[in-house]
Order: sequence, then structure tokens, then C-alpha cells
Amino acid sequence: MAAIIDGRVLAKKIRDEVAAEVRGLKEKGMKAPKLAVILVGDDPASQGYVRNKEKAAAEVGMSSEVRRIPSSIKEKELIEIIRQMNADKETNGILVQLPLPKGISESRATAEVSPEKDVDGLTPENMGLLIRGDETRLLPCTPQGIIEMILSTGIEIKGKEAVVVGRSNIVGKPVALLLLQRHATVTICHSRTRDLGEVTRRADILVAAVGNPGLIHGDMVKPGAVVIDVGTNRVEGKWVGDVDYETAKDRAAAISPVPGGVGPMTIAMLLRNTLIAARLQDK
Ligand SMILES: NC(=O)c1ccc[n+]([C@@H]2O[C@H](COP(=O)([O-])OP(=O)(O)OC[C@H]3O[C@@H](n4cnc5c(N)ncnc54)[C@H](OP(=O)(O)O)[C@@H]3O)[C@@H](O)[C@H]2O)c1
Repeated sequence: MAAIIDGRVLAKKIRDEVAAEVRGLKEKGMKAPKLAVILVGDDPASQGYVRNKEKAAAEVGMSSEVRRIPSSIKEKELIEIIRQMNADKETNGILVQLPLPKGISESRATAEVSPEKDVDGLTPENMGLLIRGDETRLLPCTPQGIIEMILSTGIEIKGKEAVVVGRSNIVGKPVALLLLQRHATVTICHSRTRDLGEVTRRADILVAAVGNPGLIHGDMVKPGAVVIDVGTNRVEGKWVGDVDYETAKDRAAAISPVPGGVGPMTIAMLLRNTLIAARLQDK
């Protein structure tokens, strides 16, 4: 029976650390870092995620602003808003909530964020630094959270077989790079991978970031593996992951649940990134 990797407990520790640093800044007479979130349209899931981010920022003593924009906005106008936020000295972190409505390029919009304020780590500059193995700037939140969760199990990443299922810019690719940087032997799987189970069964560390409920069944998990389930899928009114928890927990040494796994860690890392962004701008 696997140990549960409790994202809520780990995230609380990180949020407490961030809150202590924010208090320290205020005691020195400095301003609390400010996070700005741009929410385009009225996607209910995105609205929920943004509310959680706003609440989490307030809880660590940061200020935040949510710019709610109708889905009818033109790409050019959105880019103008991002540029204004880039220029605003009060704003330290900028996050463009994805997905964006049809007709607006996510790639072009996220590339407009100033790299020093890019708390999602999605600008070409920050992604380029990650590929170069430079982790001194802003890294994507969910992948950072995943690494913390893996490390919390006590497993040494160096030399291990790591398999990442999913190759998105926001999760799959960056988490694979962070694992590679920590000397794992990394394989990335995607929708065209032949015999997924044959690959995942090799994994000492298995990260599932697909968006397909229960895709990874227990018999696709190597006995003793550390399994991180990034999937956030709504099925019959309940949140479930990409890993079939009931069958996987009997094979894995450690497994993250959904909910209460990667989700809280992503928000904690966003707060940490906002603090890092404020420091980068203070230099
Ligand atoms: N908890 C959190 O904080 C958090 C954060 C981010 C994302 N998520 C969740 O994580 C999941 C993935 O998110 P994402 O943004 O990375 O998704 P995405 O951009 O849709 O990427 C999904 C990836 O899964 C691959 N894939 C799809 N079907 C597959 C299959 N049958 N076998 C193997 N690979 C398959 C796709 O392959 P192709 O590239 O070939 O299409 C793609 O690379 C979603 O459920 C999302 O809600 C959670």
C-alpha cells in the first residue's frame, strides 16, 4: 500500500515560508509583492482557479489584482493590457489564465509578459533558460511543485528512470527538463506513443499530465514507483486524476491523490514565484 504524498501539507509549509518572507519585507518598510491575474472570458473552471489564487495571495499577505476581460476582446487589445501591466511598477507578477478564448493566440499572449514578471514561466526567455539548465529565474509552477513532491518521498532522483506522460509547455516538457537536470533518465510519452504501459512500467518516477481520467491503470505502474498524478478531471461531479488511484496505490511506493495533490502545490509555487519576481525587479 503506497504512502500518500499529501500536497496540502507540503503546500502549507511553502505558503508559511512565503508568508514569513512577506512579513519580513513589510517590517523593513517595503511593499508586499503584487500578483496580477488576467482572466479572459467566463470559463467556470478558470474563474474557480483564479479565485483560489486571489485567496492564497491574500493569505500570505500579498496583494493581488484580477483583471476580468470579456471574451470578445481582440488579441491586440489583450497584448496592450499585458504591456501596461509590464510597465506598472506596482505589479510584480503577471499571470494570463489559460485557456484563452478562440481567436487569441496563447503563445503570443504569454510571450508578451515581461520575463521578470512571468510567474508562469512561459515566456520564450524563461523557457529557454530552463532548457539551458539555468534555474535562477522563474520556472513553471506545477513542475516545480511536482519536483518538491517527489523529493518529499525521500527518493533520490539521480540515475532513476523517470517517465512523463504528456508534453504540454506548462507541465510535461518543463517537468521532464527539471527531472533531467536532476540526472534522471527521462522519457516523455504523448498521444502517439505506442504501448504506453510498456514505457510507464519502466518508471521509478511516473508523472501523469494528460487530462484523461484513469488512463494510467495499476498494471502500468512499476512496483515501488513514485507516482505523481497531475490530471484534474471532472467525472460525475467529482475530481479525479489521470491515474486509476485504487489499482495504482497497491503497486506504487508513494502516490499523490486528486484532489489534494499537485493542485495545492501549484498555487504555493505561484506565490513563491511572485516573491522571486519581486526580488528580480528589486535588483
Ligand atoms: N493540478 C494542477 O495544478 C494542474 C496544472 C496544470 C494542468 N493540470 C491538469 O493536468 C492535465 C494535463 O494538463 P496539460 O495542460 O498538460 O494538458 P494538455 O496541454 O492538454 O496536454 C496533454 C498531453 O497529454 C497527451 N496525451 C493525450 N492523450 C494521451 C494518451 N492517450 N496517451 C498518452 N498521452 C496522451 C497529449 O499528447 P499530444 O501532445 O500528442 O496531444 C498532450 O501532450 C489536465 O487534466 C489538467 O487539468 C493540473
